[in-house]
Amino acid sequence: MRSRTHATIAALVVGIALAFGTGAPGCETPVRIPYVQNVQTDSAVIVWKTRDDSTGEVSWGPTTTYGSSAASPRGKRHEVPLTGLLPDTQYFYEVKVDGRVVSGGVPFRTAKTSAQNQFDFIVFGDSGQWTPWMLQIADQLEGQQGVDLIVHTGDVIYPDGDEDKYDLHCFSQYKDFLKSVPMYPCIGNHDDKKRDAEAYLENWSLPLNNLGTERYYSFDWGNVRFISINTEDNYEAGSPQYTFIDNAITTARAAGLDWVIPFFHKPPFSNGRHGDNDTVKRHLVPLFEQHQIKLVFAGHEHNYQRTNEINGVTYIVTGGGGQLLYPVSGGGNIAESKFAWHFVRASVNGTQITFEAINNTGAVIDTHTITK
Ligand SMILES: [Fe+2]
Repeated sequence: MRSRTHATIAALVVGIALAFGTGAPGCETPVRIPYVQNVQTDSAVIVWKTRDDSTGEVSWGPTTTYGSSAASPRGKRHEVPLTGLLPDTQYFYEVKVDGRVVSGGVPFRTAKTSAQNQFDFIVFGDSGQWTPWMLQIADQLEGQQGVDLIVHTGDVIYPDGDEDKYDLHCFSQYKDFLKSVPMYPCIGNHDDKKRDAEAYLENWSLPLNNLGTERYYSFDWGNVRFISINTEDNYEAGSPQYTFIDNAITTARAAGLDWVIPFFHKPPFSNGRHGDNDTVKRHLVPLFEQHQIKLVFAGHEHNYQRTNEINGVTYIVTGGGGQLLYPVSGGGNIAESKFAWHFVRASVNGTQITFEAINNTGAVIDTHTITK
């Protein structure tokens, strides 16, 4: 594990305003280090951006001799789908920009099928500010091995979700993780402050689910269906998003998946600064209870909170990814609360999910097991 702090300060000092990952000599365009997105059982997407227009090419295969390749047309934003992949299989990829290799021999692993019921994932949120604590969490994340995917509970970029903050507040800090492990975010209030979350929608390549929007979506990993809900858009009963959530849960049940895990930004239950969110309580909580959802993740409160089972549902607030913390207390619906920067590591093992909340020094601050 290494610290990003000095490298990032150096980047700032020399005035690399965009903090792109590789500053190349000569006239070559700087490149945001490519990252893997939207990993499915049979496909994935490699995404990168260059400061100037460029052409791209991705090669991939089961070894570092690759075997398949696809070109990306001239432009600044590049999203190359890799297709024809096998489930739960390690692949390697290489990215060329204008003919030169900018990232090579990078491993990633495709998603597990519904018959595979053991994997680990990480959840964190409210991380999108360049702070010492955000860098400490990034260092802790880099030390985590055997993680299949990351779920982000929103506020990826403070203060306004702007494109010019994406490198310093996100990609530069998590690049060693995100090049191999896909992150699946949801939209927080800060991500949506300007231009309808334009930068969020451009930077994350997310499942479309035939909706024509990435503002909310679902995806499957092993025996779990994850649902990314957008609490900045309408989710009231009868709305298109509510209907999508309802259908996503119903079809997961019909497919025999063990778990459905919704995640979104604004928590229904909180002893923190924002308190309970009455709209989420009125519309989503009854839906979760009706469908016997067991586990829900949210952010927005800059701390850690775990509720008691509320009509069968345990709600985790994980909003300690690096922004200034908010005071929190236990009592009422809240079984455990911590004023702490942290992330959550969850281990799915069939019909049990055990998770740990881990703080910015690597200490475990809460452990809990949910049984289906
Ligand atoms: Fe928020």
